[in-house]
This record gives sequence, structure tokens and C-alpha cells, in this order.
Amino acid sequence: MTATIIDGKSLSQSIRDDIKKQIADRVARGLNPPGLATILVGDDPASQTYVRNKHRACDDVGIRNISHELPEDTSQEELDALIKKLNDDPEVTGILLQLPLPKHLDEESLLAAIKLTKDVDGFNPINIGRIALRGLAPVFVPCTPAGIMKMLKEYQAPIQGANAVVIGRSNIVGMPVSLLLTKENATVTICHSKTRDLTSITRNADILIAAIGKPEFVSADMVKPGAYVIDVGINSVDDPSRKSGYRLVGDVAFDEVAKVAGAITPVPGGVGPMTIAMLLKNTMRALELAEK
Ligand code: GUN
Repeated sequence: MTATIIDGKSLSQSIRDDIKKQIADRVARGLNPPGLATILVGDDPASQTYVRNKHRACDDVGIRNISHELPEDTSQEELDALIKKLNDDPEVTGILLQLPLPKHLDEESLLAAIKLTKDVDGFNPINIGRIALRGLAPVFVPCTPAGIMKMLKEYQAPIQGANAVVIGRSNIVGMPVSLLLTKENATVTICHSKTRDLTSITRNADILIAAIGKPEFVSADMVKPGAYVIDVGINSVDDPSRKSGYRLVGDVAFDEVAKVAGAITPVPGGVGPMTIAMLLKNTMRALELAEK
């Protein structure tokens, strides 16, 4: 069997085209475009790249960037004051606090300070709680989990009643995507570094989500034939054959798993572009909420 490639790049492009058109229509009618405030603290190169990519995507669709780049030693009080200012600024539609933060900062209280209707990353603990609770809906679904759900639905994965296995329990991906799959009536198992006999669990997965940050960790023998495999990893590995000296791989050994899976996301070109598309979509929704 050769798996269907879940093309996050083209799916994200159609979402971006749609948003670009909506913004152009607004501007043509004399209305303001949305504005996304990003806060980057310190000089972590990976975070700088992520934020730069988000800025480029905003520029491309016509969302205004309001960029705050702060030094590593920024205090909790300074950040708290900045978030409060952005909460009250009508030009700011959405607020994104890039994670991880330097160790001296209290991430939870800063995320909780972001106004729920501007929390386009969906990381405010109240928002995450609303995903977990039955009968409640989050104001915003966090971007990577939202992108994963969108891809599964677009490629007709049967979610209801499926055995879904999530490897990784991070606040950003593993935990919220597990909650979303549960909400859609999948039977979800969350695996992590202390899980015993991981392969016996993953081999039972109709939907397998790898979000652990270990290059090519998921091998073909861990995958049930025909499974939907979603690879959240972006790992840089040495590759002397490339001019750059490195290449990007996911958490899944793509070539071998693609021979077993029914559908699989590539890296790059799978989850990554969908995360950004969902951020743009959430920012548009924040504008609608602000105008209600
Ligand atoms: N760090 C890694 N991924 C993300 C993300 O999606 N949003 C934020 N704010 N920080 C991150």
C-alpha cells in the first residue's frame, strides 16, 4: 500500500487565499484590516523563525503586524503591562505570545492575562478548559490542533469511534488535540515518555498523531496498515549532502511509514503550513468578535 499524502501546503493555501480575499473586500469597503500583535521575548532562533514566518503570512493576506521584540531579561511586570495595553488597543485584533518564554517568567499567568476574545493562539487556560469540558466550546481552538483536525476532516478520516493515539502530551499540541479528538467521539490514548510497550498501543491506532520532537521516531512496525498518520515534528538533522548541511524531518520515518499507512502528512508541507493558516483564520474570527 502507498499512503495518500495529506497535502497541508495546498489546503493551507486555499484557506489563505480565502482570507486574503475577505480582507481585500473589507479594505475596498473602507474597513480596517485585522491586526496581529506578536510578542517575542529573547533570542531563541527557532522562535525567531516561527514568528518571522507568521509575520510573512500576515503580510501576504493583508493582516497588519504589530511586532514586539523584547530582551531576554524582560520582567513579568513589563510583559503583563504590555499585554494589558494590547488587550485595550482597538487596532489589535489578536495577541500571540510566542512560547517558550525565558525561565524566569510565569507563562501561565501571562497567557491568562490575554483577553479571551483576542487569544488567537487559544492558549489562555480558560480557553483550554473550555475544550476539555463537555457542552462548552472554546473561543479559539489552538492553531496546530485545529490544523490537524481540519486535515483529518478534509481527507475524510472517520473520527467517530476511531482509536486515536497521540504520542506527546504538550500543552500546545498533544493535550489539546487529544481533547478535540475526544470531543469528536474518538477513543483517545495519550502516550508519553513513561508509556510501556508503546508499539502495542500505536499498532492499534486508526489515527496516529506524533508530537514528541524526536526525529523519525515512529517506524513502520509501529503503524497499523491503513492508519491516518499525522506528523507534528519539525526536527533538523545533519545532512552533509545538502548545501545547508541539514534537512528537516518529522517525528515519523516518512518513507517506510508511507508504505504502511493509509494517509500521511509530509514534513515539511503538512502540519506546519496548516498551523499558520489556522492562526490567520483565528485572527479573522477575532475581528468578527470585536465587531459584534
Ligand atoms: N511555540 C511553538 N509553537 C507555538 C505556537 O503555535 N504558538 C506560540 N505562541 N508559541 C509556540
